[in-house]
Amino acid sequence: MKILQVSAELFPLLKTGGLADVAGALPAALQSEGCDVRVLLPGFTPLLDGLHKPACLSDLVTPWGDTVHLLYGDLGALGVKAYVIDAPGLYARPGNPYEDAHRHPYGDNHRRFALLGWVASLLAHGLDPHWRPQIVHSHDWHAGLACAYLALSRDRRMPRVGSVYTVHNLAYQGLFSAHHLAELGLPPVAMSLHGLEYHGQMSFMKAGLYYSDRITTVSPTYAKEIQTPEQGCGLDGLLRERGSVLSGILNGVDEAVWNPAVDKLIQSRYEAGKMAGKAQCRSALQNAFGLEAQSTRPVFGVVSRLTEQKGLHLVLAALDSLVAQGGQLVLLGSGEAWMEQAFRAYAENHPESVAVNVGYDESLAHRIFAASDVTLVPSRFEPCGLTQMYGFKYGSLPLAHRVGGLADTVVDCTLEDMATKQANGFIFDDFSQNGFERAMRRAFALYARRKDWADVVSHAMRLSMGWQRSASAYVALYRQLIA
Ligand code: ADP
Ligand code: GLC
Repeated sequence: MKILQVSAELFPLLKTGGLADVAGALPAALQSEGCDVRVLLPGFTPLLDGLHKPACLSDLVTPWGDTVHLLYGDLGALGVKAYVIDAPGLYARPGNPYEDAHRHPYGDNHRRFALLGWVASLLAHGLDPHWRPQIVHSHDWHAGLACAYLALSRDRRMPRVGSVYTVHNLAYQGLFSAHHLAELGLPPVAMSLHGLEYHGQMSFMKAGLYYSDRITTVSPTYAKEIQTPEQGCGLDGLLRERGSVLSGILNGVDEAVWNPAVDKLIQSRYEAGKMAGKAQCRSALQNAFGLEAQSTRPVFGVVSRLTEQKGLHLVLAALDSLVAQGGQLVLLGSGEAWMEQAFRAYAENHPESVAVNVGYDESLAHRIFAASDVTLVPSRFEPCGLTQMYGFKYGSLPLAHRVGGLADTVVDCTLEDMATKQANGFIFDDFSQNGFERAMRRAFALYARRKDWADVVSHAMRLSMGWQRSASAYVALYRQLIA
């Protein structure tokens, strides 16, 4: 099966969140399942730089009249062939791929991401004479227009190309003024309730949801949640209507990247049953950040975007209690300025117990999972969440809100689930300060029972979280679609 994966980010070249981890790992996992996979990416500088032996496949004139080049090459270490759209006027900007230095979305984002979808549909229509996909699989709103261009320009004389659209986060929708419709080469009929129109604007997210053949999202629970008004971000009606083609496929963990037995980014390697290295990772991190060198009380870790979604105001308000119980916190994150500031201020007043790193640092993220005992993920909503799974792998038990993919992966340390070796973390139902702090007290209580703690950690670290299970679920979906 020939599959084109379309996404705006890809680890290790360009990453702002979990989307990149997925886009970086899924192609190879699909290839192991026998698929012939290529990826299509916008030409952000790190993505262009990552393309080995690029050749120009085609010069294209966009619907708004610019000339851009489609390059073809391979992504080296990833072992995947890729198309990259070389359009420096649109993509060659430093920093975040979506926003300027003041965190404002770029004014021409409609063009920057329409182009991604438009080129995907050209490839589906045979732009590359040597390779034509049978399925176009696009990810999040950045690639949502691929489904619209495909559906609206279907050529009945050509074999039909199926489209799969994966929602990684319904909260980011790609909304733009309806005035841009014609310049993007979309017909007026698209601007309707039965199309990509959303309250008078055009929605790239809705384009994906409306025009795709199959919709997936990144966990079974989130697939249900987004069909409710509470979590549907205004699109729950459409999602309910399309419920028969909507499913949840849980993300996996790239075990070549997130594995303490081979991880070169951490102080010492370790694995379940041979845990001495984890203690060294912990001392190294305490030392690096000037935290008290203690080994009898838990270290809590946070690696996260600092946004409303992640529920970290609960952590902030629980810091006095965390410190009073003897715990330590190491946080790495960036996002909303008020939250960065509040965590920083707390750390300045409690330097022995709390270390806060504002920024984005792949290597430090690994060191925090390795050094910590508990990974905090109290998200308000969470489509899948990867950090709780990285927590399992590194023996840092997740403490999470029972929502989305967290509900599908984290099993609370109740006595009955510990007895059956199901327990792997701490989970709270009530999204409140009390709910969070009770779960935190459970973590402290279990940590004091060293044998029980070690058993749960050992079980969590042995969980099989690799991409193969997810990849075979995607393959089953592609097969249905091709049939
Ligand atoms: P989301 O995609 O909503 O941000 P996920 O849990 O799916 O949440 O994925 C987050 C990814 O981004 C993980 O790989 C995590 O390690 C990484 N990450 C988040 N914030 C940072 C940061 N400040 N520095 C380094 N990595 C980060
Ligand atoms: C999104 C979601 C996150 C998910 C990730 C990868 O960023 O917020 O929950 O794990 O995409 O699918």
